[in-house]
Amino acid sequence: MHWDKKGPDNTDKTIEAALARAAELDIQNIVVASSTGATAKKLINCDRNVVCVSYHAGFDGPGMRRMTEDVMQELKENGINVLITTHLLAGVDRAIRNKFGGVYPSEIMAQTLRMLGQGTKVCVEISGMALDAGLIPHGKEIIAIGGSAKGADTAVVIAPAHSNQFFDTKVKEIICKPREF
Ligand SMILES: Cc1cc2nc3c(=O)[nH]c(=O)nc-3n(C[C@H](O)[C@H](O)[C@H](O)COP(=O)(O)O)c2cc1C
Repeated sequence: MHWDKKGPDNTDKTIEAALARAAELDIQNIVVASSTGATAKKLINCDRNVVCVSYHAGFDGPGMRRMTEDVMQELKENGINVLITTHLLAGVDRAIRNKFGGVYPSEIMAQTLRMLGQGTKVCVEISGMALDAGLIPHGKEIIAIGGSAKGADTAVVIAPAHSNQFFDTKVKEIICKPREF
């Protein structure tokens, strides 16, 4: 499925398409990018193992977290794991750029994946992060949901690899994504 434009207006139909495909393929694990938790809240009661990946602490400034404690608590009480950690496709490479300028492998990999849209890059990244955190099983197809800065506009079926074997990642299906991005 292809949405006309990128962005959060596609959130509900992206989640609907992702859940429908999860049911068809009997996929139990869903990883969703949700900085504030707003998108992840829409997956409460979806009857799957849901992992919500938010921005790393410090993304908005030293010590700052995008997700409030209240929202994090609400997600956890509803069985959604919240992962807040280093971004797989930024990591210390971003520190080298920030300090010395230039561009380094992780961010080149991220920018290459963005040729398919921001959301596809995000899906690949967050599913690897969730796998490295031990929050989803290895060797199984999962569904990842990502977006363009806010909300969701992309969903994929993916078999992620650990960060130390990143290129073994297999994007099996693109369930939906925006045509314009
Ligand atoms: C680890 C991580 C990396 C992200 N990277 C990007 C990115 O490169 N480009 C982008 O447009 N959005 C990026 N996002 C935003 C997500 O795709 C998504 O739109 C957002 O987290 C939804 O948050 P909300 O539920 O608060 O609206 C990223 C989010 C996370 C958690």
